[in-house]
Formats: sequence, structure tokens, C-alpha cells
Amino acid sequence: MRWHIGCCMPTHGRSKGSGKVELFVMLVLFIVLLGPMLFVSGIVVMVKGSGSRGGLLTLLGATTMGLVYWAYSAISHMNFSKGRVLRLKGRARVARRALGDGWADGATPRLEGLTPWQRTVLGEAWMYSAGMEHASVPAFAKLSLKLSALGAPSELLEACHLAALDEVRHARRCFALARAYSGLPWSAGTIPELGQERPSRPSPGEGDDWSRLVRGSLLDGCLGEGLAASVAAEASRRASDPVVRETLAVIAEDEERHAELAWDVIAFCLERGGGKAKQALRQALDALETQRTPTLPSIPGVDEAFLASNGVLPQAELGRLMEECIQRTRERASECVEPLAPLQRARVMMPPCSSSPNSSSIASTGKT
Ligand SMILES: [Fe+2]
Ligand SMILES: [Fe+2]
Repeated sequence: MRWHIGCCMPTHGRSKGSGKVELFVMLVLFIVLLGPMLFVSGIVVMVKGSGSRGGLLTLLGATTMGLVYWAYSAISHMNFSKGRVLRLKGRARVARRALGDGWADGATPRLEGLTPWQRTVLGEAWMYSAGMEHASVPAFAKLSLKLSALGAPSELLEACHLAALDEVRHARRCFALARAYSGLPWSAGTIPELGQERPSRPSPGEGDDWSRLVRGSLLDGCLGEGLAASVAAEASRRASDPVVRETLAVIAEDEERHAELAWDVIAFCLERGGGKAKQALRQALDALETQRTPTLPSIPGVDEAFLASNGVLPQAELGRLMEECIQRTRERASECVEPLAPLQRARVMMPPCSSSPNSSSIASTGKT
């Protein structure tokens, strides 16, 4: 079950449902512009001398703008899926929003029966995922540079580049779903911070290159992408739309392989980086305990059942998967630091850090 890597299909041309789409876009634009229009009208009325009427209009405009901003920021924290986080100078970054073609495949989910508000919610949620998946592409490019600098074997670099191509496909699909639900031709814009980044001197607490690579691999790869795989797999099982279900199933499979790549990177660091790498893994293990489950906002007009049937897991389920993932990551990383005795190993039944039978990212010559 794979999407075609080159299936970037511009959605020009009028389709049967284009009339409905235009109506929907106009409705969304009206809601977004209503606040500023009321606000400006209020000021104009006040200038003309009607203070109380103008004040009321200004207040209404400000309240509408506040509500629209709240709704969009709340929706954008929902989590369908995400790839490896792009960190620049310690901060997660994504591309600016843009309108245009170039970042969407031709996938279209079922839209019948969805209200304009439900479509807005789903469109924004998929836009959030699209931004995260798109940012994962340069994140893997950065990882590739780091691995090259440290003399990594070809298999690691190959797996890293294949993972970046997976993220390209994920981003294209997420943008396609965001466009279909929202009715707006969303695309990826620029990431100006990426072009401005200069090699910076790490702070003493960050350790050497090996230490930073170990920490990033454990938190963003083993845990982050491992969690993304679990969330996408469970969300796929609950989704009712066949396109959403297939999308999440493929993302789950790919993210699982990316998490395995992170374990392979850690094994490489421990083998070549010596005691400092091992020490960094111990410290990263402590940091595991501070990782928190993202909090999903409650959004009026959409309940948990609706969200689950459209690929968004309830908060409780997200928390359970996060706990499971932290537990699995902790056990496996602990074994990398202090290998278990054979009897303990049999009890834990966890694959060893450096030779997981599922670690297909290194052995394979391409995506399955
Ligand atoms: Fe991804
Ligand atoms: Fe990923």
C-alpha cells in the first residue's frame, strides 16, 4: 500500500463540485473578514460622531477576531501525525503557509454530510500535520549532514534519505487532505530560519556532536516518531473514510521505520562515540520522563466520536499511547546503556537496541 512518489497533481480545472467549493471558500472568507470589517466600521462610525454605536461595533469586531484566532489556534494543536521535528537553534520550525500548487497529491476524502465548520476543523488539523511532515524533510537532510560529518556507514545515510522521501509523500498527502477539507489551495511556503542558520557553538551542557546526536535521536526519533507511528496506526483503525484510513496506515508504517532508524543511529553513536555517547544516552533517558502528552483543545461543534471517525484520537487515548511509548523507549534505551542478563532479557521481551529484527531501515535497499 503505497502512494506514488511523483503524484503531485495540481488541482486546476473545474470539477463537478467546484461550485460548492467556491461557496464554501466565500463563507470561510466572510467569517475571517467579518471581525476586521466590524472593527474598522466601528472606528469610522466613532470618528463621524456616534461614539456609543461605533464603540459597540469596534467591540464586536475585536471579539469576532479574537474568537476566530482562538478557534484556529485551538484546532491547529490537534495531532493527526507528525514526522521528525525540524529544530533550528533549539526551536521547532515549520514552513509559512502559502497558497498555490506543488505540495499536494490528488487524494480526496469524502466531503458529503460535513458542515462548513467541520470541514474547517478537519482542514486546519490536516494543515498542522502537513506543516510538521513538510518540516521533517529538511530535518532528515540535517541528520544526513550530521551523519556524514561523523563518518557514518552508507546504510545509515541511505535510510536517512529514504526517510526524507517518505516525509515528502506524507506532506503531499496531508496538504491534499487539508486542501480538500478547507476548499483552499494550501501549499508550503518558506522556512526563512533555515536559510539564516549558521553553525553555532553548542553550550557546554549540550556536549559534543555524538552526545547531541544521541539525545536528538532518542527524543525526536525513537520516542517522537515511535509515538507518531502508534498514534497514526490507532487513528487509522478508527477512521471511517477509506482515504484517511489508508493515509494514516501508510504513515504509521513509515514512521515506525523512521523510529528504527533512530535506534540504529544511537547504536552507531554508542559504537563510535565512546563513553560520552553513553553518558548522553543516560541523560536523555532522564529527559524522557519530562515529555508530556500534547493537550487537545475542546472544540465546539465537534465531539470525540466525530474526530475519531476522522482520524483524530481522543485525549485519553493519546495519553495512553504516550505512556506506552515512553515505557518502551525507556526499556530499550536502558538496555543499550546496561545490557540485561539473558533471563531478564527473556522477561522484558524487547528487541535489543542495535539488532532489532524489525530494523529494516538499514537492511532494505528501498521502501517496501
Ligand atoms: Fe512523517
Ligand atoms: Fe518520520
